[in-house]
Amino acid sequence: MLEKHAKCAIRGQVLQFTADPFLTGTESAHRFWSDGLVSIEDGVIQAVGPADDLMAGLGADVEVHHYPGRLIMAGFVDTHVHYPQMEVIASYGAQLIEWLNEYTFPAEGKFHDRDYALKVAQLFLDESLRNGITTSAVYCTVHPESVDAFFEACAPRNLRVIAGKVMMDRNAPDFLTDTAQSAYDDSKALIERWHGKGRALYGLTPRFAPTSTAAQLEAAGALWQDTEGVYMQTHVSENRQELAWVAELFPDCSDYLGVYEKYGLLGPRSILGHGIYLSEREKAVIAESGSAVAHCPTSNLFIGSGLFDLKASQQREKPLRVGLATDIGGGTSLSIFATLRAAYEIAQLQSFSLHPIQAYYLATLGGAKSLYLDDKIGNLAPGFEADLTVIDLKSTPMITQRMEHAKDLTEALFIQMVLADDRAIEATYVAGQRVYERAPLPN
Ligand code: GUN
Ligand code: ZN
Repeated sequence: MLEKHAKCAIRGQVLQFTADPFLTGTESAHRFWSDGLVSIEDGVIQAVGPADDLMAGLGADVEVHHYPGRLIMAGFVDTHVHYPQMEVIASYGAQLIEWLNEYTFPAEGKFHDRDYALKVAQLFLDESLRNGITTSAVYCTVHPESVDAFFEACAPRNLRVIAGKVMMDRNAPDFLTDTAQSAYDDSKALIERWHGKGRALYGLTPRFAPTSTAAQLEAAGALWQDTEGVYMQTHVSENRQELAWVAELFPDCSDYLGVYEKYGLLGPRSILGHGIYLSEREKAVIAESGSAVAHCPTSNLFIGSGLFDLKASQQREKPLRVGLATDIGGGTSLSIFATLRAAYEIAQLQSFSLHPIQAYYLATLGGAKSLYLDDKIGNLAPGFEADLTVIDLKSTPMITQRMEHAKDLTEALFIQMVLADDRAIEATYVAGQRVYERAPLPN
């Protein structure tokens, strides 16, 4: 953590969203100032606009952090990620169910140890901030210790995060299972301990239908209905083998989503990971209920799950709320650039060219909207929490030469999402504090 100031201003190229680019044209959905300023007081954005206009109104005591030629935008929002799976990234040769049994469950078993959990949580948060991610919706493990450790690591960083204890009472190793009752009791105690503490928010986390009994899903639904502002996160319709398994386990439900519907787990602040094989009925229920889908492109490619139809999710009478997600450790990178590149490639395979303005919207304000936080985070506008990232548009020789031929902002954004990585993140701010600053790059 660097210097603390109640007031500061950040100057550079500034990108702001003004509408949903999937609904309006991409041009009318954003504003851009090539020499802009974001002024901040007590962690909240006060003004955004041309530096020429706003500099005069800044008090003499206000420190200006100047990033000439750099792009300043809202911090990225990762709507689905597993912090205990840092060590699972890049695990070879398995699809979902085998991947969980072979790699993921053994790794998650270590998180009964609070010290170990804290170490991994610190590493995960450091890496997220190094990639410009300022908000994440996080799965911990079945162990309450893994949740305490995670929120403890978040507290000094003052992060707006969502996290929760995985609930899992069947079809997993003994060392990773709870019961319907213990999951209810532990989750309730964790909500009391962490939900609304600073900027932290709690998310009830039944892992997915196959690892919860009906009794556990019912307990999760009951607890969710009883708790104001709490989130609910789970996985849905990611892999064909998983779909068949859910149909076997819940023969009375018409489809996968029907399981969550039956137990009262849909509605605003319900976040459903993946959603690749959703039927029209399921999409309609998600849209009507106000639930959200977390699109996890690198994970869907890496575990070989399938191609999420982003275009269809948006081009319908009632579009789905969709956020972008890294889904570490099924996903392969905490870089939002890499994640957007995969989203672009998946869309290309379905004859849809994801526009860069749409892409960065998904990674910021669209993600915030899927989480019902779009009045607080995901944009640079007065009244928003000052979570933002500063992007060096020329972070490598390859990118620098390519940028010499970029004619506008859109092309510059596209070049970054195809070619950039963590080296392009020059700084990250959380609630107006610079919490990450990149070391100088070699020339
Ligand atoms: N489905 C249930 N658990 C998981 C998980 O940890 N990762 C992914 N990608 N899918 C899941
Ligand atoms: Zn996941």
